Amino acid sequence: MNKYKIKNICCIGAGYVGGPTMAVFAEHCKDIKITVSDINQSRINDWNNPDTNYLPIYEPDLDNLILKYRNKNLFFTTNIKDSIAEAEMIFLSVNTPTKEKGVGAGKASDLKWVEASARQIAEYAVGHTIVVEKSTLPVRTAKTIEKILFDSQKKENNNNKKNQTFSVLSNPEFLSEGSAINDLQNPDRVLIGGSDHIAIEALSDLYKNWVPNEKIIRTNIWSSELSKLTANAFLAQRISSINSISAICEATEADVRQVANAIGLDKRIGKEFLSAGPGFGGSCFQKDILNLVYLCEFYNLKEVAEYWEQVISLNNWQKDRISKLIVNTLFGTVSGKRIAVLGFSFKANTNDTRNSPSIKICKDLIEDGALLSIYDPKVSQSQIEKDLGIKCSDQFLESNSGTIYYERSIEKTAEDAHAILILTEWKEFFNINWDLLIEKMKRPAWIFDTRSIIKTNDAKKSGFNVWQIGNYCNSYL
Ligand code: UDX
Ligand code: ADP
Repeated sequence: MNKYKIKNICCIGAGYVGGPTMAVFAEHCKDIKITVSDINQSRINDWNNPDTNYLPIYEPDLDNLILKYRNKNLFFTTNIKDSIAEAEMIFLSVNTPTKEKGVGAGKASDLKWVEASARQIAEYAVGHTIVVEKSTLPVRTAKTIEKILFDSQKKENNNNKKNQTFSVLSNPEFLSEGSAINDLQNPDRVLIGGSDHIAIEALSDLYKNWVPNEKIIRTNIWSSELSKLTANAFLAQRISSINSISAICEATEADVRQVANAIGLDKRIGKEFLSAGPGFGGSCFQKDILNLVYLCEFYNLKEVAEYWEQVISLNNWQKDRISKLIVNTLFGTVSGKRIAVLGFSFKANTNDTRNSPSIKICKDLIEDGALLSIYDPKVSQSQIEKDLGIKCSDQFLESNSGTIYYERSIEKTAEDAHAILILTEWKEFFNINWDLLIEKMKRPAWIFDTRSIIKTNDAKKSGFNVWQIGNYCNSYL
């Protein structure tokens, strides 16, 4: 029993999952030393920066936790070797993007970082170590991790040096960016999969410090891995479903918000996650569905693969139709026209832009020659340049080839613009003073509200033409 006593935790990967998750663990497990380690030195420097404005990720309430527990029981380091060696429990929170080349390119997850971490654990772990999969992983990844660890265990035991033994658990993360701290503090459920029941209970005991036992679900490891992919596939499917209905609403005299409200009151459907928008983004939905599709193809389940793939096709179609309708509305071309883009992150309250629908929509407009002046409260200029593959211009030039500008306020973006394009539902875009803004713009002036957040009547009163997602008010198009 003693071998499962947890005094030191190591988390490999100090990103959107590792950082917030360990900050919440630090709050509830004050007697445990928690070390978050990463190969990226500048990321670790940012986590250790006394000024929390420089934390590598933006997440509401994260800064308070960091200030409270950093260098008390929460540490950030690049010294992976020592943090593995002293830990009785190791969380794997490294990135698992979709493979870009080779077998399974475009669908399967690239597990090179997971494999590298498993090899580091095999090299440095001492005594019994519980290894917990936190990153979203394709089903049966635990097998890969176990193979690397158990082979190392055999080798080590033959040499009888570090006395290594391992248990592998799956404990998928269900946090949603932008509300990560709240999701971690009050989870709907905690899922732990594995076959070593003592290890499962060792991890449950940590969660029991703040999560009621009845919310902690124990399953076999494969059910746990598959549940994560399934949860994300179902959530993404809801968004594609409501986005498909948004297009029907625009073509008829219906309003997608009214439809969502009416169907959401049916308890079997539920009211959450029914906001039509520019398409889902983020690091999980697309990747997890692609993993599911890859898995189905592997097991010869062609129809099932096609069914889930359609959720992604609809998502791509939604992004495409938005950029097309902007070009059509602005008289068939946006070449040389300035468009004010409000919001670039994939959702509000995060600086994350991975798979943000803004990327595809902006690229399409740039391709058509638009001059985009982009403002996002938390996304940096360098991130936008990286995502769009183009440098920001310093001065406003008359030009017919696509250009981007990075602005620091809503007002600045609107100067000489033909249109305002709202792509993220940041709070500060909810109550814009349209009278003031239209004065700075060219006429006719347009608003394209892909998040359905503005009061269309106010904007119309100020003289704007308004298009809003899933709203028949745009029937003049
Ligand atoms: C998601 C899951 O919610 C989370 O449980 C999992 O652990 C990781 O993936 P995340 O990607 O951080 O979390 O954010 P989420 O709130 O799910 O939003 C994903 C995308 O869907 C965003 O682009 C968001 O704008 C979009 N969305 C969400 C909609 O378009 N409409 C909605 O009603 C909800
Ligand atoms: P997520 O959203 O899954 O947290 P991120 O990309 O934000 O993904 O974070 C993953 C982190 O894992 C990155 O900071 C990356 O540098 C780190 N990482 C990747 N491989 C390793 C490794 N072998 N050892 C330590 N850290 C790693």
